[in-house]
Amino acid sequence: MSRTSTAKSATTVLDVKSPTFNPNIGVTKGDRKKLAGKLSNALADTYMLYLKTQGFHWNVAGPMFYSLHKLTEAQYEDMFAAIDELAERIRALGEPAPASFKQFLSLTRIDEETGVPTAEEMICQLVQDNDACAKSLREAVAVAEEADDVKTADLLTDRIGQHEQNGWMLRAMLAQ
Ligand SMILES: [Fe+2]
Repeated sequence: MSRTSTAKSATTVLDVKSPTFNPNIGVTKGDRKKLAGKLSNALADTYMLYLKTQGFHWNVAGPMFYSLHKLTEAQYEDMFAAIDELAERIRALGEPAPASFKQFLSLTRIDEETGVPTAEEMICQLVQDNDACAKSLREAVAVAEEADDVKTADLLTDRIGQHEQNGWMLRAMLAQ
C-alpha cells in the first residue's frame, strides 16, 4: 500500500472532516454526548459565576471592601482557568463547546446579578451559587463514573473541591 493511500484511509477512519470528530477512547458515542451535556452545564455555571464574582470584585464597597475584593479576585482567576479546561474536555469528547452568553444562560442554574448588592448580600449570593455548582457537579461526576470516563470524573471532582472551598472561605467572612 502506498503512503498516500494509507494516509487517505486513516483520514476516513478518523473522520477528521466531521465537526464533532469521533474519538475512539473507550467511551461510547451516547455517553460522550451525555457527558458533554453535563460538562456544558458545568461550563455555563462556571462562566456565569466567574462573571458575577468579578462584578462583585469591582463593585464591592464598605468595611469588607479589601478582604472581599481580594478573595473574589482569587476565586474568579481560578474559575477563568477552569472554564478553559471544561470547554477543552468537551472538545476531547468530540462535541462542540458552547461559547455564547445566549447558550450559557440557557444551560446555567446561576442567577445573574444586574444591581449592586451590599457586601454581605454579595457574600450570601456567592455562597449559594458555589454550593449550587458543587451540587450539580456531584450529579455530573456520578454520570461520568457510570460511563467509566475517569478523566471527566477527575476534572469535575477537582471543581467540586474548589467550589466547596470557595463556599467555606466566603462563609467564614460572615462569621460573628
Ligand atoms: Fe481587579
